[in-house]
Amino acid sequence: MSARKPVLEIRGLRTQFFLREGIVTALDGIDLTIYENESVGIVGETGCGKSMTAYSILRLVPHPGRITAGSIKYKGIELTTLDLDRMRSVRGTEISMIFQDASTALDPVFTVGSQLDEVISLHQGIYEKVALEKKVVEALELVRIAAPKEVMEMYPHELSGGMKQRVMIALALSCSPSMLIADEPTTALDVTIQGQILKLLKALVAKTGSSMMLITHNLGIVAETCDRICVMYAGRIVEDAETFELFEHPRHPYTAGLLTAFPKLGEKKDELSVIKGTVPDLMNPFKGCPFVDRCGKAMDVCSKHRPSRVEISRGHYVSCHLWSGGEPSDG
Ligand SMILES: Nc1ncnc2c1ncn2[C@@H]1O[C@H](COP(=O)(O)OP(=O)(O)O)[C@@H](O)[C@H]1O
Ligand SMILES: [Mg+2]
Repeated sequence: MSARKPVLEIRGLRTQFFLREGIVTALDGIDLTIYENESVGIVGETGCGKSMTAYSILRLVPHPGRITAGSIKYKGIELTTLDLDRMRSVRGTEISMIFQDASTALDPVFTVGSQLDEVISLHQGIYEKVALEKKVVEALELVRIAAPKEVMEMYPHELSGGMKQRVMIALALSCSPSMLIADEPTTALDVTIQGQILKLLKALVAKTGSSMMLITHNLGIVAETCDRICVMYAGRIVEDAETFELFEHPRHPYTAGLLTAFPKLGEKKDELSVIKGTVPDLMNPFKGCPFVDRCGKAMDVCSKHRPSRVEISRGHYVSCHLWSGGEPSDG
C-alpha cells in the first residue's frame, strides 16, 4: 500500500447534550481516520452515535448538544474551532452529506432543475442558461436518471423515493466534494432500489475519487460497499478494521455477536438488536466498557476501567480488555 493521505482525522471527539435532566454523552471519545479514496462504513445499533458523528464533523449538532472535547481535522484544518463562514464553505464545497430521507433535504417548492441550478452556479461558477442546463443534465445522467430533461422540470413530490434519493446524490456531488457522508441513505427505500443506489454511490465515489463515510445499521450494506468498517457501541468505536479482516477476524465480542446475527441486505427488522440485553443509559456515566452487561466474556476489570484502543494487527483496532490485557486507559 502506498502512503495514503488522511482526509479526515478525528481524535477524542466528545459530543454531549445538556438537558434539564442531565448530560447525555452521545459520543465518548471517538478516534477515526478516513483516507483519500476510501469508503468507511459506520455500523451500530440505533442510538449508538452514528448520526452525531456525522453532525459533529459538519458542526450541525442540534441544540442542546455540542462538541465538548476532541479534535476533527479535515485536510489538516481544525473544524471544531473553525469560524462559521469558513465552516459553511467546507460544508458546501468540501464535505457533502446525504440524509436518510430525501424529502427533508429537497425543497418542495422548487423544481429539481432549479435546485441543481443553484448548487452548480454557486459551486462551479456557471450562470449562463445553456451551459447551466447542460451541467444539470450531466448531473442527473451521472446518477443514471434516464430522462433528465423531464425530471428537471419536476417537483420533488412527483418523484419516487428512489428518484428523490438519486437527485439528492446528484446535488451532493455537484459541488465535487472530497468527502461524502451518507447517513442511512437507503433505509427508506425498498430492497431492489437500495441495491441500485448503493452500487451507484460506490461507483460515483470511485469515479470522482472522493472519500465516503457510509452510515448504516445494516452490516450487509457496509460489507458490499466499504473498504473499512467501524463498529460503534454506546457512543464509542469499539472495533475498526478493513472489511475482509473484520468479517474474518472479529475481535470485539460485540462485533462477533453482530456477525453471528448477520442480516441479509434489506431485511426490515432492526437486525443488530438481536444480542440480548440493553445498551447503557448515556445519561449515566459508566466507568468501564459499555458492553459489559451484554458480554459473555466480561471480566472483573470490564466494569471498572475503560478498555484502551489497541492495534492488534496492522490497521485493526479494538477497544476490549480481552485484547489489551486488562490495561486501563482511564484514570
Ligand atoms: N436531541 C437530542 N437530545 C438528547 N440526546 C440526543 C439528541 N439527539 C441524539 N441524542 C443522543 O445521542 C445518541 C446518539 O444519537 P444518534 O447519533 O442520532 O444515533 P444513531 O446511531 O441512531 O444515528 C442517542 O442515543 C441520544 O442519547
Ligand atoms: Mg442516525
